[in-house]
Amino acid sequence: MTVEMSVEVGGLRLRGPVVAASGTFGYGTEVPLLERRALGAMVSKGIFLRPREGTPPPRIVETPSGMLNAIGLQGPGVEALIRDYAPQWAGWDFPVLVNINGETAAEYGELAARLDGVPGIAGLEINISCPNVEQGGLYFGNDPRAAAAVTEEVRKRTDLPVWVKLTPMVTDIGVIARACEAAGADALCAINTFVGMSIDLNTQQPRLSFRTGGLSGPAIRPLAVHLAHQAARAVNIPVVGIGGIFRADDALEFLIAGCAAVQVGTATFANPRAIAEVNDGIAAFLASKGLPSLSDLHRYLPRD
Ligand SMILES: Cc1cc2nc3c(=O)[nH]c(=O)nc-3n(C[C@H](O)[C@H](O)[C@H](O)COP(=O)(O)O)c2cc1C
Repeated sequence: MTVEMSVEVGGLRLRGPVVAASGTFGYGTEVPLLERRALGAMVSKGIFLRPREGTPPPRIVETPSGMLNAIGLQGPGVEALIRDYAPQWAGWDFPVLVNINGETAAEYGELAARLDGVPGIAGLEINISCPNVEQGGLYFGNDPRAAAAVTEEVRKRTDLPVWVKLTPMVTDIGVIARACEAAGADALCAINTFVGMSIDLNTQQPRLSFRTGGLSGPAIRPLAVHLAHQAARAVNIPVVGIGGIFRADDALEFLIAGCAAVQVGTATFANPRAIAEVNDGIAAFLASKGLPSLSDLHRYLPRD
C-alpha cells in the first residue's frame, strides 16, 4: 500500500512529517552524509543578528534518558549565515527554516527583514523559548503579550512562513499559543527544552557553567506530548510536536495527539539514522492500519 506522507505545515509543503530540530543539526552541512530523502525540512541552529560566542564549557551534561544543554545560542550572526549557508540550502530538495533569536522584539523584526527573500531560506522559526540566554529567550515565551509582540514584529517584516517555537515553562500553553496565532503565526512548534539543573557532588557546583540548562530527550516525552496536544487543541493553525522523539512510535504519539508534523532533536546525536527510521516507521504504521495518509491519524484522537 502506498501511503501519502507529504503534509502542508504553516505555508510549507513538506514531503514527509519529520523535521530536523534546531540546534541538533547545525546548519545542515553534514546533511550530505545522511539519508536526506527522509527529511521533511530542517531548522537551522538559532541565529542572532550579530555573532555570539555562547556560554563557556561545560555546556552539556548527560542525564537519565536525556541531556541538559546550555550552548547559549553560539552562532556566526546573520550576515555569515546568509553568505556561507543559504547558498548551499538553495540547492537542496527540502525546505530550510532559520531559527531566529533576539533580545528585543525589534531585533527579531530586523532579522526577519534581513532574511526575507534570501534564496535558500524557506521559512522562519521564532525562538521565544531558549532557556540559555540572559536576555530575551524565555522572557518572550512565557508572557502572552511579549510572545504576540515578537510574532507581530516578525510577521510585519517578512513574507516567509513564520513558525513560533513555544516553551514548556508556562502555566497554560494554550494562552501563549492563541496569542501567537492571533499575532499572525502560520504554525507553532511545541516544545523547546525544560529548564533543569545537575550538581556535581565532588565540586558541589552545578555541572553546567551556566548553572542551568535545557532538558531534552526521552525524559521529557510524556510532558511534551501533553503540551503539544494542549497547544493543538487551542489553535486552528498546525502544531509541530517536539520532545524526546527517538522512534516512530514516539512520533506517532504526537501525530495522534493532533500535531501535523514532528521534529527530532537529541535522537540524532545518538543515532544519525533516527530521522530516516522515524519517517519510515510512520509510513509502515499507516500502511499496517490501512490508512492512506497522515491526516487519517487524527481521527484516532479528536481535537475536542
Ligand atoms: C544541543 C542543543 C541545542 C539546541 N539549540 C536550539 C536552538 O538553537 N534553538 C531552538 O529553538 N532550540 C534548540 N534546541 C532545542 C531542540 O530544538 C528541541 O526543541 C529540544 O531539544 C526537544 O527535542 P528533543 O528531545 O527531540 O531534543 C537545542 C537542543 C539541544 C539538545
